[in-house]
Amino acid sequence: MAGEVEKRNAAIAAMEFVEDGMTLGLGTGSTAKHFVELLADEVADGLIVRGVPTSAQTQRLAEAHGIPLLPVEQVQQIHLTVDGADEADGQGQLIKGGGAALLREKIIANASDHMVVIADPSKHVETLGVFPLPVEVTQFGFTITAKKVFDALKGSDVARPNVGLRQGNDGQPIITDGGNYILDCKCAVIPDAGATARALANVPGVVEHGLFIGLARTVIIGSQDGASIFEY
Ligand code: 5RP
Repeated sequence: MAGEVEKRNAAIAAMEFVEDGMTLGLGTGSTAKHFVELLADEVADGLIVRGVPTSAQTQRLAEAHGIPLLPVEQVQQIHLTVDGADEADGQGQLIKGGGAALLREKIIANASDHMVVIADPSKHVETLGVFPLPVEVTQFGFTITAKKVFDALKGSDVARPNVGLRQGNDGQPIITDGGNYILDCKCAVIPDAGATARALANVPGVVEHGLFIGLARTVIIGSQDGASIFEY
């Protein structure tokens, strides 16, 4: 698959942030999968960590690889979270949720002492918005919420938003781990991510949106032969 070497190299660089005894937020997606696999190798070699998965998918992956997990209700402190992203800009602002796990990902990232994002170079952008912004909404009233989400995007200077319900190959709405729907919002450019985040957070029916602002302290962009590390 395209970008796998870059993803793997980003994950290898992220392993440098892991210390014995840590509680680790485990991200979701194909890049985070590399990190989980590398972590599993270290655990097999004696590293003591406990993982807090950000999705049912990652929980299954971590369990299959023998990584000890901590139920989220028992978490006292998350020292480090390593997760992927759909876009990361030059200020460490992110779009996440391509894998529909944005709610749990944001709860875990926000509860972490340190969030490290790992990505291949295609995710590193000047301005957020080419990747459609995922917005998790309640099933109840989702058509009304979609109109309000459109208004919120317009009101925060997204020029021509296009809001659509995420559906699977069977034409049915995708249901998140939390039992909600996802609206994918084509924006092309999000000129002021902070303003858009605030506007979306004010819409009743919006459970969470995929703009991660002020959460990532480190962004690691993998390359063919290594990785570049950006600190914020
Ligand atoms: C899941 C996410 C993922 O981190 C994001 O979609 C990136 O995934 P991948 O590493 O497969 O490109 O936010 O909700």
